Amino acid sequence: MFLGLDIGRQYIKMVAMNKTKDGYKLLDAGHRLVPEPNQAFDPDKIDTHHWVMAIKELLRQQGLNPKKVKTLATGISGAAASVKQITTMEMPTDELESAMTFEARKHIPMDGTDAVIDYQILGSNDKEVDKVDVGLVACTKGVLNTHMDLLKECGLKPGVIDVDPIAVTNAFTYLKDMPNDGLAVLLDIGALSSSLVVWGSGQQYFTRDLPVGGHHFVKEIVDKKELSYTEAQDLLYREGVSSVLKNDSSDDQSGLSVAERSVFDNLIEDIRRSLRFYAKQTGQSFFLKILLTGGAADTPGLTDLISSKLNIDSDILNPFDGIEGADSLSVENPSQYVLAMGLCLRAGMEK
Ligand SMILES: Nc1ncnc2c1ncn2[C@@H]1O[C@H](COP(=O)(O)OP(=O)(O)OP(=O)(O)O)[C@@H](O)[C@H]1O
Ligand SMILES: [Mg+2]
Repeated sequence: MFLGLDIGRQYIKMVAMNKTKDGYKLLDAGHRLVPEPNQAFDPDKIDTHHWVMAIKELLRQQGLNPKKVKTLATGISGAAASVKQITTMEMPTDELESAMTFEARKHIPMDGTDAVIDYQILGSNDKEVDKVDVGLVACTKGVLNTHMDLLKECGLKPGVIDVDPIAVTNAFTYLKDMPNDGLAVLLDIGALSSSLVVWGSGQQYFTRDLPVGGHHFVKEIVDKKELSYTEAQDLLYREGVSSVLKNDSSDDQSGLSVAERSVFDNLIEDIRRSLRFYAKQTGQSFFLKILLTGGAADTPGLTDLISSKLNIDSDILNPFDGIEGADSLSVENPSQYVLAMGLCLRAGMEK
């Protein structure tokens, strides 16, 4: 059995699959809240102890015996790691190794420990001779060790340690056929941040962490409607974007100033800026679709709002679509499992 475990800041998600002759068979999927239930989610109050408890309880809840797991895959968040596509001179392996380490240090939040890197030569650059494109992934030893210690504390044997945005991309490429032309935009909307990926076959890979997530959606409703956290959460799940965008008592006539922009406008503005940056860097701007993943992707009205504001088709990605065994499983919010699915697929690639 292969296990993908997504250790989110509000929910732990797991997907377990077996390999079949021509793909994968879904065995189980489940999630568990990290903080205490029925309370306002306060990210500052979450520590290692909460994650360890939640992971152990999730495995127990799903009746999963860790000993039966052939390979476990977990991920480092996009905020703690760097994923970059770099163009560099062709050079011998040892030189490339130190050039990449040097490069990585510029992009990751350094914490006094060394950088850990992994890279892959993607091929020769199609514009400049003598240059190659390299995919570079990096984090610090401190981040990696903390992650491994957490897994060991849960009684799990660390296996593949992936990086979240890459795992989301892997899930997407497994599930959808990517046309030869054009770019897909993936947006994993978690609790505290969203991870944006721009990807296309033969195109520059780009990812960025945007500082808006479902927690901020809820908080805005708390503030605007003077509701408790759980009431606001219920309203968000029920009415979605309209619970914030609907006119309330304040008059909405004059053009909205920046301070009055809704949390959804801020998220969309962040996406717009990132796509503009991508287009400027690469000269490519044929964005085919924005696919939402993560727990907050299910916010009613969000895909419509995104498509109308950015003029790019938008949809929610269901990781169980077309997967054998998925029919017998009932999950409330499939998009929340995309990362866990991507991690599980990554575990399945290990020999
Ligand atoms: N049905 C729903 N509609 C809208 N939002 C939802 C729904 N279900 C869950 N959410 C929101 O999704 C978020 C949790 O999603 P997810 O599990 O992807 O986060 P996480 O991985 O724990 O967080 P992060 O990625 O920031 O570490 C919460 O903010 C929650 O309120
Ligand atoms: Mg997440």
